[in-house]
This record gives sequence, structure tokens and C-alpha cells, in this order.
Amino acid sequence: MKNIILTGFMGSGKTEVGKRLAQRLGYAFLDTDKLIEEKTGKSISEIFREEGESSFRELETEVIKNLSGITGYIISTGGGIVIREENILSLKNIGLVIWLKASPETIINRISSASHRPLLNVDNPLEQIKKLLSIREQFYSRADVSIDTDGLEVDEVVKSILSLETL
Ligand code: S3P
Repeated sequence: MKNIILTGFMGSGKTEVGKRLAQRLGYAFLDTDKLIEEKTGKSISEIFREEGESSFRELETEVIKNLSGITGYIISTGGGIVIREENILSLKNIGLVIWLKASPETIINRISSASHRPLLNVDNPLEQIKKLLSIREQFYSRADVSIDTDGLEVDEVVKSILSLETL
């Protein structure tokens, strides 16, 4: 397998699972949000505040386009990366796309702070999660594999990924 890409909503465990999976497989780890922060010298919140969401989405597309040709990486992606068709295609091109599924209740429990997640910095984050999930589910489901992470610890999710036949 060239690379493994983790998609899913904010708080679905992409970063933690990705880092541990990388250790287990001896792969390197990449996070698209971090790449954007390094590229711009700004935090995700600053980009949203100063330039708006659409500018952030452009940066996401640019950053993953630049990943073509890499191998041996576990790539954790921002929760909204899948809403652009071209991004889904870019990701599928470089490896196996795995959707870490989680219910709104699981997500709200896993998200301790919304300060670095501008989209959830609202009065009723649970409602916002439900709304965004219902819009995005169709895009997440384009992944090659999905893993239901409700009730699972990070190590258990890693184990399920390691047991995939497609790996
Ligand atoms: C977003 C998810 C965030 C980050 C940005 C937008 C989204 O990443 O890219 O705040 O649209 O769901 P995480 O999923 O890593 O929190």
C-alpha cells in the first residue's frame, strides 16, 4: 500500500489513530491541517478568521495535490476535505482512503475544545455537528473502507485497520 489516508469528521480520532498507526507500520505521519499551517505561517483559526472558509478550502486542495507521488505515509486529513470531489480523487490516487465513522454523541464527547475548530465555535455545537454530518455523510462514504469507531479506544481502531485485508 502506497499510503493510508484517514478521513472523517472533527473528533473522529484521525490524528491520534494516524500517529499510532504510523508507529506500528513504520510509516511517516502527515496531517493536512499542519501542512497548511506550515505553508501559510498561520493557524487554522487565523485563516478562517482573516481569509474565510473558501480560502482555507483552496489551501486544502493545493496541499493534497502536492502530495501526489509520495509513499509510505499515514495522512490525517481535515474533516471537511471530502466536500470537494477533486480532493476525494486526489486522495484515492495516492492510497487507501479510510473513513473513521463516529456518531454526533461520540464526536461531542471527544472534542474537548472548539478553539482550534472554528466551525464548532457556535452556541449549539451538537446541532452543528448533526447538521454538518448529514451534509457530509455522502462524501465520507466515498472512502474505500469505513470503520465504526463508536465505543472504541484508539488502539482498537488501529487494530481494526491493521486487520483489513486490503492493507
Ligand atoms: C474542519 C476540520 C478541521 C480543520 C478545519 C475545518 C472541517 O480538521 O480542517 O477546522 O471542516 O470539518 P479536523 O477534522 O482535524 O479537526
